[in-house]
Amino acid sequence: MTKPPASWPAAGRPAIVVTGASSGIGAELARVAAREGLDLVLVARSAPPMQALAAELRAGGMPAHVVPLDLASPTAPAALGAALAARGLHCEVLVNNAGYALLGPFAGLDAAAQLGIVDLNLRAATALALAALPGMLARGRGGVLNVGSTAGFLPGPNMAVYYASKAYLRSLSEALWAEARGSGVAISCLCPGPVRTPFLARAGIGRARLFRLLPKAAARQVAERGWRGFRRGRRIILPDPLSWLTARAVPLLPRALLLPLVRRWQRPR
Ligand SMILES: NC(=O)c1ccc[n+]([C@@H]2O[C@H](COP(=O)([O-])OP(=O)(O)OC[C@H]3O[C@@H](n4cnc5c(N)ncnc54)[C@H](OP(=O)(O)O)[C@@H]3O)[C@@H](O)[C@H]2O)c1
Repeated sequence: MTKPPASWPAAGRPAIVVTGASSGIGAELARVAAREGLDLVLVARSAPPMQALAAELRAGGMPAHVVPLDLASPTAPAALGAALAARGLHCEVLVNNAGYALLGPFAGLDAAAQLGIVDLNLRAATALALAALPGMLARGRGGVLNVGSTAGFLPGPNMAVYYASKAYLRSLSEALWAEARGSGVAISCLCPGPVRTPFLARAGIGRARLFRLLPKAAARQVAERGWRGFRRGRRIILPDPLSWLTARAVPLLPRALLLPLVRRWQRPR
């Protein structure tokens, strides 16, 4: 069994750590969070877009750091802790945003790529929260913003592992929200519907009728609403009309009707 990650640095300047900050919602969350004036730590695999974003933030007087890391690796949480310590920082806020999806039937998609979703969307997010939360609770400040999805509200035939990973993240977030109540530490799960980012093309989602038809929110709007909801202590944040509707309608619909529909609408073409 892998050893749980040691807690991150307890001392130093407070920082906001954003994973998946090289594009999409993560980059926009970093821009929005940077207004708070804390050091920003950008984490993803691709260094050049994060360096460009860090330069943009520094030009606006906001301190930013780039930590290129493959978060699917089990050594990533310790490496990120070491990177924080080397810069004299502690994690005040953790934004668990890095994630990806794959469209296609469970038994037909590449097994390693699907296990990669488990490693990143769920294992890495959990390991980073395990490393960051003890310090936050001791200080009585800060928090964790997990980026889930409306996919976390229902099972997703033809994207089964992704939907399950987001259901896990929602469940984890809600449990931690309850555990942290009254501590001064905020835990939220941001659950957007489809958003215009490279995510959709990377997942091959454009081949599914459901995603071709549904309206797509702008990443900046999702980030603005997500950050505001987090700072207000919201447990679940539904940043667009579609996410609001999904969260309310799905529990009312019989699964026997819903699942064949989702399967058909998410069939790759
Ligand atoms: N777009 C949507 O429709 C939508 C809807 C609901 C929820 N979400 C969620 O929003 C989050 C952000 O997605 P997005 O739409 O902004 O997509 P995106 O633009 O593709 O961003 C994904 C980010 O995750 C990073 N990442 C991927 N694999 C990684 C790894 N192994 N280690 C470290 N970083 C990694 C990517 O950077 P590198 O490739 O440089 O590593 C990138 O910065 C995801 O959790 C996604 O599930 C998206």
